[in-house]
Amino acid sequence: MIFEQVATGGCQSYLVGCDETRAAVLIDPALSQIDHYVALAAQNGVRIRYLIDTHTHADHFSATKELARQLGVPVVMQRASPAPFVDMRLGDGEMIVVGQMRLQVLHTPGHTADSMCIQVDDRLFTGDTLLIGGTGRTDLPSGDPEALYDSLFNRVLHLDPALKVYPAHDYKGRSHSTIGEELVSNPRLQKRERAAFVEMMRSLNLTMPTHITEALRTNMSGGKTVARLLAEATSSVPFMSLVELKGRVEAVEDDLIVLDVRERDAFEAGHIPGARLLPRGQLELRVNQELPDPTRRILTCCELGYISTLAAATLREMGFLHAVALDGGMKAWREAGYPLEPTANAGAPGHTSAASR
Ligand SMILES: [Fe+2]
Repeated sequence: MIFEQVATGGCQSYLVGCDETRAAVLIDPALSQIDHYVALAAQNGVRIRYLIDTHTHADHFSATKELARQLGVPVVMQRASPAPFVDMRLGDGEMIVVGQMRLQVLHTPGHTADSMCIQVDDRLFTGDTLLIGGTGRTDLPSGDPEALYDSLFNRVLHLDPALKVYPAHDYKGRSHSTIGEELVSNPRLQKRERAAFVEMMRSLNLTMPTHITEALRTNMSGGKTVARLLAEATSSVPFMSLVELKGRVEAVEDDLIVLDVRERDAFEAGHIPGARLLPRGQLELRVNQELPDPTRRILTCCELGYISTLAAATLREMGFLHAVALDGGMKAWREAGYPLEPTANAGAPGHTSAASR
């Protein structure tokens, strides 16, 4: 078996491949590691055939949908998954065949209704059903402590004690344990009576994971994260540095249009000399009157450099093929002590800036 474990913060992903055929699966991939997985597959000489999420993750962004698009392979989840982009939904007792490997599915609801464990040879990928020294929580959407009790005590813990446990999370840098070790030492498994276990799970009082609403929104719908939207915009526009722009602002013959996409009050409080105001929220509807020449070189700027990147991407999509974004924003511009209009001491009433050049 070809085996790679990728830890991202506390999240664990697994690349599992067949020695003979070089076919592989990727289990619980995280969005931030897409290039890492593709590189690992190449390095191991395997081709990823399936992308598997053991359950709907609430604490990180799944890469399955985006990798499915890039690699042209199916997304696999348990039958109860709400995600519309899942290509293959597996029920309890079903298998997927990957080269010579057989991946056996156990439906193990509890952490979520769509949680499953996957057994391949001597390994069990437990998702968040069973963690090393812990279990998944049951207080997130579709969680159910009664179901988790059944999944653990009537299913998973009856498996071969020598079976190796590879969870979807570990926050202490451990790679795996075994069913036998967990039975003996996992504190959550010491309450073996249903009522006591359920009561313990209900009284854990855990804090909500950061980004939970965004993780559930994107993992359940296949929609994009804010970071993904920004990354896509960033990859589609060229940038100009603050110092380069300063040089061009000072060389008044430069024909660059500086387009400030902040709101009017921020613009009026201080902007790059010669900049024009066109707030991001009005960009599409006012662009025809404000920027009649699509061949002009346009540089977008905003407070921090994120909104201006989205604005430059939108302008390029609309045909302004020379739109670029400022690498940084007005905050950095001010902090660098670069020129502003109105100047710091020229805030007197009646002072107006050259709105354009
Ligand atoms: Fe989870």
